[in-house]
Amino acid sequence: MSRLVSYRKQGPVAVLAIENPPVNALSPGVPEGILEGLKQALGDEEVKAVVLIGGGRTFIAGADIHEFEKIHAGEARGLDMILHAITELEQSPKPVIAAIHGTAFGGGLEVAMACHYRVAVASAQVGQPEVKLGIIPGGQGTQRLPRLAGAAKAAGMCAFGEPVKAADALSCGIMDRLIEGDLLAGALAFALEVSDKTPPKASERAVQGDPAVFASLHAEANKRLRGQMAPHAAIDAVEAATRLPFRDGCKVEAQLFENCLKSDQSKGLIHAFFGERTVAKIPGIGKDVLPMPIRQAAVIGAGTMGGGISMVYANAGIPVRMKETTQEALDHGLATIRKNYANSVKRGRFSEEFVNERLRLITPQLSYDGFEQADIIVEAVFENMALKQQVFTELDGIAKPDCVLASNTSTLDIDAIAAATRRPEWVIGHHFFSPANVMRLLEIVRGKQTSRQVIATSMDLARKLRKVGVLVGNCRGFAGNRMFAPYCRESVFLVEEGNAPERVDGALYEFGMAMGPLAVQDLAGLDVGWRIRKEFRHLEKPGVRYAELDTMLCERGHYGQKTGRGFFVYDESRKASSNPEVMALAKEYAAKAGIEQRAASNDEIIERCVYALINEGARLLEEGMALGSVDIDIVYLNGYGFPAWRGGPMKYADLAGLKKVHNKVCEFQRRFPDIWQPAPLLERLAEEGATFSSYDKSRG
Ligand code: 3HC
Ligand code: NAI
Repeated sequence: MSRLVSYRKQGPVAVLAIENPPVNALSPGVPEGILEGLKQALGDEEVKAVVLIGGGRTFIAGADIHEFEKIHAGEARGLDMILHAITELEQSPKPVIAAIHGTAFGGGLEVAMACHYRVAVASAQVGQPEVKLGIIPGGQGTQRLPRLAGAAKAAGMCAFGEPVKAADALSCGIMDRLIEGDLLAGALAFALEVSDKTPPKASERAVQGDPAVFASLHAEANKRLRGQMAPHAAIDAVEAATRLPFRDGCKVEAQLFENCLKSDQSKGLIHAFFGERTVAKIPGIGKDVLPMPIRQAAVIGAGTMGGGISMVYANAGIPVRMKETTQEALDHGLATIRKNYANSVKRGRFSEEFVNERLRLITPQLSYDGFEQADIIVEAVFENMALKQQVFTELDGIAKPDCVLASNTSTLDIDAIAAATRRPEWVIGHHFFSPANVMRLLEIVRGKQTSRQVIATSMDLARKLRKVGVLVGNCRGFAGNRMFAPYCRESVFLVEEGNAPERVDGALYEFGMAMGPLAVQDLAGLDVGWRIRKEFRHLEKPGVRYAELDTMLCERGHYGQKTGRGFFVYDESRKASSNPEVMALAKEYAAKAGIEQRAASNDEIIERCVYALINEGARLLEEGMALGSVDIDIVYLNGYGFPAWRGGPMKYADLAGLKKVHNKVCEFQRRFPDIWQPAPLLERLAEEGATFSSYDKSRG
């Protein structure tokens, strides 16, 4: 028997158990093992039925996604063996029962649907999450699922990829029975009940569809998964099941599957899937470095960030003390937290009971009482070095010796903050993104002396806080904001050159960004950058062009959304419309500064903004400020609204070809020599015909 699928007999029932940890993916060898086991069962007269079950923590989490990467690289073929196993399972003259725990996702559910019956424990989940990888079900799932669950349910599941709980799967016809107690025992009993019945085949059922349902799902996909092709392909494949015989429907599925698999979108999304898991692994910090348990937390500051961070801890069930300097600031912070929670209840995200429990975990206070018990203290006071250093000196005197001291600074030097303590190895940056309780990204900033255990604890904590933690180096702006600066600069330059903010933001929105860069700057507050700029003006080089338009808007009191006017004008519901003043100011300024007014094409807008990100990303990478280009991608996907289906800026560059990117950057250099210089790493990789991903092979 295959080493990945075991075979045993329990009375008249053959049990095939998949043993391919951690998630029993259908890697090469697994379909072969199923086929071998099935053959053995069919050849054994004593066997009356077959149970297919997953060993370990789950049934089958789907096809092996690494195989798709190999297909992308031209190193593997397709799904032949999985399809072969699926066909043989359904054709079996002896009933086959899928016994499901954990997840039956993707190819896992497709295998289960080829079985004649499905039973599951109540905690099990099923789903067709392929769209999250930029593909559609390729194991005939788009044809069997509608025949079991109905076309509308199936199209929704395939288009959006959300999992369905066992009870829901039972009520919609995917599941035949829920098993209480031991799954295998329940499945064996079920097998005996059906052993003398003619095995029912899902592929032989009839299915009907309503065109209006498919149309409304397409519309929903346009909104929820803007720019992606797989959701539409998935709906089309299910629709085919409603008008074609099973075999012909499978051909449609196969064609659509192939189109999606060979697209850059699936390359980007698969990169994002593995990337999120890769960034959690820190070279040099192995399993020998144990993360410390975080049972109690404390936060200093109850402003925008401090309040949000306190909510993050409370939401993860960790009690948190939140300290302010005045009762007024404390009350204000707490009122904002209550308002945010109330909104979540209104939107149905949290129950009232959940919120009350979370609120009980937050202790607002004006003193350091109880801080000596905290396992972690997160500082989120004003962005001012002297103040932060003073706070850290105070913490040094209060915190227990093994307390992680984290700063949420977005621009300041972590080493300088750490120097205010006698324990710099315990100091680290935890850069949350606003709103902290919503945004998934947590940049974890490693100082010169930060210990490996503090890093391991921070990475582990990020997961517990349901954040994506990415380790970055200590430089101005860290990874995300440092790259964001030239991206925003280009967007403002383009306006100064006479392109309306709607055009600039529109091109980047079309590219897939969640928001255009100018709207983001309006949201963050133009005054934030203005203040920083004033502080660092002495560092500006004479004769070099800097973005001026945002400064000019600030000088007129237009700070963006908070004043109702910035690059756009905002009404009371924060709906944006064009600000005619901006183009007039741009024209006046361009004339004065000798800037040529010229309409940029969509391509130019995208290239100048996105290549600015990539070029700075390459510098970060070479300086070691990010462990790999994949880390930069994960920062951008989770903190900056970069479209996941493009894989992140660095993967996007790889897919576009580094030669092309480099050539463009050189062209921009010729046009704007004081601003654009190709990053040496970009230059080198382009010359070698290499990619950022290949550079990552030695990540760290
Ligand atoms: N193929 C290959 N590796 C997989 C995998 C898969 N389908 N699913 C998970 N893994 C790997 C992860 O990369 C991770 O590896 P690592 O430890 O080396 O980083 C390991 O398994 C554990 O995964 P998680 O850390 O994600 O474990 P969780 O317990 O948090 O989650 C899960 C488990 C819910 C199964 C989650 O891993 C998941 O959603 N996996 C993807 C499921 C999926 O997309 N299935 C469809 C695949 S496409 C398909 O089936 C096409 C078909 O139509 C033919
Ligand atoms: P904020 O101005 O909203 O809040 C700061 C709070 O700290 C104020 O309520 C103030 O009363 C309090 N405070 C000041 N000194 C204190 C002390 N000694 N003890 C206790 N409380 C004290 O500022 P915001 O936006 O929350 O920023 C906080 C930090 O987070 C800054 O370092 C900022 O750079 C960083 N940050 C901000 C982001 C944002 O989008 N606002 C995003 C990521 C990081």
